[in-house]
Amino acid sequence: MTTFNERLTETTTFIKEAGVKEIDFGLILGSGLGELADEITDAIVIPYGDIPHFPVSTVVGHAGQLVYGELAGKKVLAMQGRFHFYEGHSMDVVTYPVRVMAALKAHSLIVTNACGGVNESFTPGDLMLITDQINFMGTNPLIGKNIDDMGPRFPDMSQAFDPEYRKVAKEIGEKSGLHLKEGVYMGFTGPTYETPAEIRFARTIGADAVGMSTVPEVIVAVHSGLRVLGVSCITNLAAGMQKELNHEEVVETTERVKQEFKSLIKDTLAAL
Ligand code: 6GU
Repeated sequence: MTTFNERLTETTTFIKEAGVKEIDFGLILGSGLGELADEITDAIVIPYGDIPHFPVSTVVGHAGQLVYGELAGKKVLAMQGRFHFYEGHSMDVVTYPVRVMAALKAHSLIVTNACGGVNESFTPGDLMLITDQINFMGTNPLIGKNIDDMGPRFPDMSQAFDPEYRKVAKEIGEKSGLHLKEGVYMGFTGPTYETPAEIRFARTIGADAVGMSTVPEVIVAVHSGLRVLGVSCITNLAAGMQKELNHEEVVETTERVKQEFKSLIKDTLAAL
């Protein structure tokens, strides 16, 4: 039996041997948003299937590879495709790449996702800066023995999304005339979309958007001491707010707004 730390070392050793050096920002690119990684220069591409202890992602629209290189003047390690809890992966697996980024000495993480709008003032195609999150996934990736050299037993989540990063991203959004909203992301397990009653509940408890990812990765990032910036793409309104929900609309909307999304992330990266 190998320990978690031993597996992590095998993973990071492999990634370093593939040519990955210093990392400023880890980047998790959500559904339909992976194209940003195509703009990374001097890119080293590592398919997940080649990496020891990395699972393979199963969702359509996710390439399933790490892309390392330079983006907007920063050294980034991007995940083109993430692992979701609804795929049947454990929380350890879902958050493993964040542990890898932290072990590779990234100081910050940018998480992105496609999600449903709950706030009545949102429109499909809006981008939302995540100000805070609600863990409604019924579990927590930190449950279990704490590995003290990775982070504290009881991490403070009162500033999970870095206030300075948010300020910079917000200013960029305003300067560029983007449809940049701000709000609270609530994580459900999926794979069902929520019912209208669940969406009324979500709104009542303070959610502005709902999705099936991000929350576990952010918890582990905070535990690891990474500074986090979160950007959501509102691909559709949630149940009860529009006619029906389907994955095709999610894909269509990300396709439509990906230029805006890419500019926001690149301009923000350049300014951070
Ligand atoms: Cl409405 N809900 C969830 N959980 N994820 C989504 C979504 C809705 N729309 C896009 N992704």
